[in-house]
Amino acid sequence: MSQIAALIVAAGKGERAGGAVPKQFQPLLGQSVLRRSVAAFAALPEIGEIQIVTTDERWNEAEAAVDGLRCAPFARGGATRQDSVRNGLEALVPVAPDFVLIHDAARPLVSPSLIRRVIAALADGAAAAIPVLPVSDSLKRSAADGWMSVPRDDLYRAQTPQGFVYKRILAAHREFRATAVTDDTAVAELAGMAIKTVAGEDSNLKITTEDDFRHAARLLRGTMEEFRTGQGFDAHRFVPGDHVWLCGVKIAHDAALEGHSDADAGLHALTDAILGAIGAGDIGRHFPPTEEKWRGAASSLFLSHAAQLVRQAGGAIVHCDVTIICERPKIAPHRDAMRARIAEILQLEVSRVSVKATTTEGMGFPGRGEGLIAQAIATVRLPSA
Ligand code: CTP
Ligand code: MG
Repeated sequence: MSQIAALIVAAGKGERAGGAVPKQFQPLLGQSVLRRSVAAFAALPEIGEIQIVTTDERWNEAEAAVDGLRCAPFARGGATRQDSVRNGLEALVPVAPDFVLIHDAARPLVSPSLIRRVIAALADGAAAAIPVLPVSDSLKRSAADGWMSVPRDDLYRAQTPQGFVYKRILAAHREFRATAVTDDTAVAELAGMAIKTVAGEDSNLKITTEDDFRHAARLLRGTMEEFRTGQGFDAHRFVPGDHVWLCGVKIAHDAALEGHSDADAGLHALTDAILGAIGAGDIGRHFPPTEEKWRGAASSLFLSHAAQLVRQAGGAIVHCDVTIICERPKIAPHRDAMRARIAEILQLEVSRVSVKATTTEGMGFPGRGEGLIAQAIATVRLPSA
């Protein structure tokens, strides 16, 4: 069988998309764009080596993004996409695959069937195979004396992955390194390689602007058709102390909550609700209270682990709602901080997080101030089985 490598370029600055880090390291429904792109290839058994290209400044972000996914040590990017691709191709020299699929990290929604169409064209003997789509908008060219309409019948949009016979595209990139082009097919053309097209997909968009993140999230949500709900409950006893942790926020109080970890009943109930929604057991199974290493642990760890499990299942948290039941401390002054902290841990918009509080009108153990209760409910969206 032919050996097929995937080369994923992630060394760009993402200037048009903006943000604190380049677009490929930003989250898209809780998973980075780069991780989604790499995972699409890693899921296909016919793909051998996965070569990522990134920059020294973003090495750590890239490592974190692909944690646990199979891929080769990274190659270093260059000043232009073309340089980055060439560096990646050079890094594959010791592997010398038959074919290479060159993909923009910025296209995280690439489907297995699209990747397989490109592979099929190469297996069929094409030296270069690219996914294309017809242009549906009318096209205009701005000219010195106004606008000119451009016929679109013979125009196509090219996407990635673009597949090539490895040795030939490597030679072409070496030979034409000084001729600036925007994709690898353009390099193949310069080298006189014949190009075969396969059907591209509208959903395989290249995230370029901030708006594209919203569009991609909408498309991705559309592929997740199953909703599940989980609930969680927790109670902790008050003991002498001067503060409590609730929903990830430290609150000064004339008592503390007793527990093996930081005793944050709000986050514990919410962690259980999320685990419940994906059928992943409960907090005690993942973080046994008998284990010394969890003594005094910040409960944000437990919650972010539950969110990570949702992501690993290909899902996304839709909404969560926590209710704290106690007479004191008063929750209302801390509610916004609690929502913000939970949203931060879960990598969600604040509008998807709710925190409420109530009392038991003096009845029972919360009423007597012996302890407090937290309840939570979480809704997750999962790919349909
Ligand atoms: N790329 C790269 N090395 C570069 C430039 C781009 O590896 N020197 C990668 C990007 O990371 C992206 C792909 O090439 O995955 C397509 O490029 P583009 O969409 O233009 O991304 P950026 O160059 O990062 O974005 P911008 O042009 O807005 O700065
Ligand atoms: Mg660019």
